[in-house]
Amino acid sequence: MKRIEGREKVTGHARYAYEYPAADVAYVHAVQSPIARGRVRSVDASEALTTAGVLAVLSSADPPPLGSRDNPELALFQTPEIAYNGQIVAAVVARTLEIAREAAEHGLRITYDEEPHDVRLRTDHPGLYRPEKVEPAFPSDTGRGDVETAMRDAALTLDATYTTATTHNNPMEPHATLAVWEENGDLTVYDATQGAYADRDAIASVLGLAPERVRVVAPHVGGGFGSKGHTRPNAILAALAARAAGRPAKAVLTRQQMFALTGYRTPTIQRIQLGADAEGRLTAIAHDVVEQSSTLVEFAEQTATPTRIMYAAPARRTTHRLARLDVPSPSWMRAPGEAPGMFALESAMDELAIAAGIDPIELRLRNEPRTEPESGLPFSSRNLVACLREGARRFGWESRDPEPGIRLSGRWLTGTGVAASTYPARRLASTATATAEDGEFLVRIAAADIGTGARTVLTKIAAEALGTSAERVRVEVGDSTLPRASLAGGSMGTASWGSAVVLACEALLKNGDTGTADTTEDVEADTGFARHAFGAQFAEVHVDVDTGEVRVPRMLGVFAAGHILDETLARSQFIGGMTMGLGMALLEATVLDEPSGSFLNHDLAQYHVATCADVLGIEAVWIEEEDPYLNPMGSKGIGEIGIVGAAAAIANAVHHATGRRIRDLPITPAKLLG
Ligand code: MOS
Repeated sequence: MKRIEGREKVTGHARYAYEYPAADVAYVHAVQSPIARGRVRSVDASEALTTAGVLAVLSSADPPPLGSRDNPELALFQTPEIAYNGQIVAAVVARTLEIAREAAEHGLRITYDEEPHDVRLRTDHPGLYRPEKVEPAFPSDTGRGDVETAMRDAALTLDATYTTATTHNNPMEPHATLAVWEENGDLTVYDATQGAYADRDAIASVLGLAPERVRVVAPHVGGGFGSKGHTRPNAILAALAARAAGRPAKAVLTRQQMFALTGYRTPTIQRIQLGADAEGRLTAIAHDVVEQSSTLVEFAEQTATPTRIMYAAPARRTTHRLARLDVPSPSWMRAPGEAPGMFALESAMDELAIAAGIDPIELRLRNEPRTEPESGLPFSSRNLVACLREGARRFGWESRDPEPGIRLSGRWLTGTGVAASTYPARRLASTATATAEDGEFLVRIAAADIGTGARTVLTKIAAEALGTSAERVRVEVGDSTLPRASLAGGSMGTASWGSAVVLACEALLKNGDTGTADTTEDVEADTGFARHAFGAQFAEVHVDVDTGEVRVPRMLGVFAAGHILDETLARSQFIGGMTMGLGMALLEATVLDEPSGSFLNHDLAQYHVATCADVLGIEAVWIEEEDPYLNPMGSKGIGEIGIVGAAAAIANAVHHATGRRIRDLPITPAKLLG
């Protein structure tokens, strides 16, 4: 199906948060801490306040009243304490954005009491601890059998440490908000968010308002990838600025500010141990993760969780250890957990295959579990083997050179690699309504279309459920006045919202002119099976022997993700994820400057996201999968699985091309030449 709002978007008519008009609007620009730890000693705002056009200055010198300080990232200006470089310490509200920014950068004299900071993640950090749980609610550690003994007795062993870099989401639309206080004290917030209700509830809590008194409007969102899943300070800034200035206010984070204020993927240090018999059947798997959070919040990424479900082995262990550092708070970035975790596990599987002299696809086939390894639950469906076989056929795996580092053409060494992919297939409770009038249908649900095509696929789902054509169905999303729905995250959107839409449409058909649905009970009944999507990632790389430059002429992803609801939208999700995986493999790394504790390369000139010139050929296909244990559509989420395993496939291809095993992402020319 064609993107319903596509024409609106390409003609510039689709409105994003910052673009909504408001009479006599004010603008706010945030000031960030230049120190990583300590406190604000004094704020002298006299120059800013006498600048023409400046309406107000916000800082901890005069804390604005809030309803809750529970979320330290949103409780702005409540304390002089500084927890990381880049934290918001003040803001200037003015008649124009330019005046606000100029006064913020030059009109404030802020002094600090600086304390020594600690920003380096390391495996011997004295503060490492075991978090109570990892995201979203998994146990930190799991295990069975004795890995050490199994490793000692194994015919083949692999013990290696892999690291992944700090990386940042860079949605095209920066985090932005327009806040409007209504005359009755209600608040309307036009916000860049992955979930109108989650955002509404968070904003209401911080401001001390009943949730019904806050309305979040977000029909179009220019990408999120996780960074707009939590309410960000721009929303609170806009509301406080509007209150201080007595008029609507707009807040937007600059690209540079986003790096400290909208989350990032934690760096990871991952030790993988694999033991196997002479035929490559795993007898031991251990995955021990070290990662970081800020001192303000505990965000424990679920990095080792994919290892709990991938391969059978009698002895197994997964652990997570967290260091709380003086750094910005990490958060969600496309496939948190699976993306970094599967880089390590699937690189290790490649290394084991080579050590065993077994083809890497064959090694995975030999270790395919009958049930989910750690839970013992049956899989609702698991077609990893079919993906590997179909991918091998399409990719031409048969003609692959058995030895690494032997195919040189001019200056380019050539190699291919494979890795498995996986992502959970979950859903959350949502509600929806459907109404009919004169043969036209209106479906309402507070879903979020963050560029995924949610509005379009929900229209298609509704039309199918109603037995009508999509042209007769209108779906309204992106507003907290619509029926409550879960946020766009965890690849759960379509499964969660679609379930509610189908039920509402079925109720409408039964009742005549209106139907409502609440999937709470259905979702609670989602037990008894291990539900995951699977995939196989293939990559071909060319490595310049003189410069170490890596080019990726071909990537192929084969996915088994239930029923694919729309080919165009699905392909876009898969190749988008794979492109992000290419970035993770070769390009993306945010460099932390230890003396200042700040991210150095905090813009798109220095933080290199894969662009058209980096992407030569990416193909995504899928296997039709019948799974009756998921939802009325039979679908699994596809927003994140495309990134999972992609970096391992590229790293494995780099090894095949060069004979060099790079265990630290990203794979830069310097690492290859070193
Ligand atoms: Mo996505 S990282 O689940 O918003």
